[in-house]
Formats: sequence, C-alpha cells, structure tokens
Amino acid sequence: MSPAENIKTPCQKKPEHSTPRHIAVIMDGNGRWAKSRGQPRIMGHRKGAEAVRRIIRLCGDEGIEHLTLFAFSSENWQRPPREVKLLMELFISVLEKDIDALVENGVRLRIIGDLDRFGKRINSLIKKAEMRTACNDCMQLTIAANYGGRWDITQACRHLADKSSRGEIDPKNIDEELISSYLVSDGIPDPDLFIRTGGEKRISNFLIWQLAYCELYFTDILWPDFSKENFSDALQWFAGRERRFGKTSEQVSA
Ligand code: FPP
Repeated sequence: MSPAENIKTPCQKKPEHSTPRHIAVIMDGNGRWAKSRGQPRIMGHRKGAEAVRRIIRLCGDEGIEHLTLFAFSSENWQRPPREVKLLMELFISVLEKDIDALVENGVRLRIIGDLDRFGKRINSLIKKAEMRTACNDCMQLTIAANYGGRWDITQACRHLADKSSRGEIDPKNIDEELISSYLVSDGIPDPDLFIRTGGEKRISNFLIWQLAYCELYFTDILWPDFSKENFSDALQWFAGRERRFGKTSEQVSA
C-alpha cells in the first residue's frame, strides 16, 4: 500500500466531548519487536513507520486536532552509529515520500527540536515539508526530532534572559504563558493524552513542561504492533478519566 493510501482521512469527524484534543506518543519497542523476530533493529523502526501512518489515520478518523510523536530524542545520538544513520535515512524517506499524503489529507506537519544538529539536507527537507503543508488545517502532526524537554526549557530561558538583559522584557512580566510562548511547541495546546508503548512507565524528557496536567497511558504493546484496537482502548481509558486540574471532584461535576 502506498503512503498516500495509508494516511487517509482527516476532517471526517467532529470530535466527541470526551476525545482528547492533543495526543502525544512515545513510540517505544521497535528494537524488541525486531529482536523477537530475529531481525535487525532497523526492521522494527521500519515497521514502526507503518504504525506512524496508521495512528495518523486513526487520529484523523477521530477528529483529533494534534498528534505529537517522539521520533528521536537528544539522547538517541548515543545509539550505535549504524542505527543512528539508518534512523536518519528513515526520517529522510518519511519526509520525502509521505508528504504528498499529508498534503492530500489536510495534515499540517511541524518538526520540533534542536534542528541545528541535523545536516543541511534534512533541514531543507523539513523546511520544504512544513511549507507544503502550512495551509492544512484538518490536523497537525508534530514530530519531535533531536528533542529533549530540558533542552527546550533551557533554550526558552536563554531567550528570555537575553531579551530581559536588553530591556525588552520586564522580569516581573514573565509568567507561565510567556514561558510557553518561548518553547518550541508555541501555538500547540498542551497534550491531553500521553501514550507510551513498550512497557516502560516514564516520560523520558518528552514535553516535560507541557505534560503537567496530561493523562498518562502506558501499554506493554510494542509500537509496531500498536493497532486500531489498542488505540480505541487508550481513547476509552481517557474518556473514563476525571480531569480535575487541581479542583475537587465535586467542583468538576458542578
Ligand atoms: C524507540 O524504540 C523508537 C525510536 C527511538 C525511533 C522511533 C522511530 C520510528 C517509529 C520510525 C520513524 C518515524 C518517524 C516519525 C520518522 P526502541 O528502538 O527504543 O525500542 P526498544 O526499546 O525495543 O529497543
């Protein structure tokens, strides 16, 4: 099946009241998926890319506005050079081959992270892909690449301190909203539902500021196996959560 047929959808359904507006995902378990089949790790990442197409389609079907995927962390450079190289090649191939499908289906693409570390070729592909999808408004797909939550907060602090030292910002006016606007996720609402596959129960430096009030869902399913049914389970679990944002249950129901 071509990428265009795989990523089919958006703007089909108005979201239910209990549907998350923004889902953020740590796609863990590609390596184990491959190992359990006696295959090299990259095969797991390839299969993982198919699961990426699947979840984009499913989010579109559910009318979810934002999907953010953690594709490559600042720490992932420490993996064996061959795996890093193959992951970069996969990233390039997704940027080159899947963009038509995103354009056709009204998906806006944004890449967040410390992009300076990527070479000229990847940066130019990113720019091109973001520009081609800039007017799409059915759904936003954000891919975090060379991203780390602490890096993001640090770069925001650096910018704020710089502006403050030049007298452009009064430190008294620095509040949560202003800090959020200096994070690379500026303009994207905080995630409502976080999903981590692969059995680990941690957030691994992903969107640490933005996840403050997010509902956290962990599943043992390995990312390449994450199916429509697994996605429905996560949505159903989310629908049953009472989001109190620090209030009491009585206040929320009132
Ligand atoms: C974690 O699994 C996964 C990654 C570090 C890479 C994720 C990449 C993809 C899903 C494919 C490309 C997707 C895009 C959006 C370009 P792991 O390798 O840590 O698995 P393990 O815990 O089983 O070893």
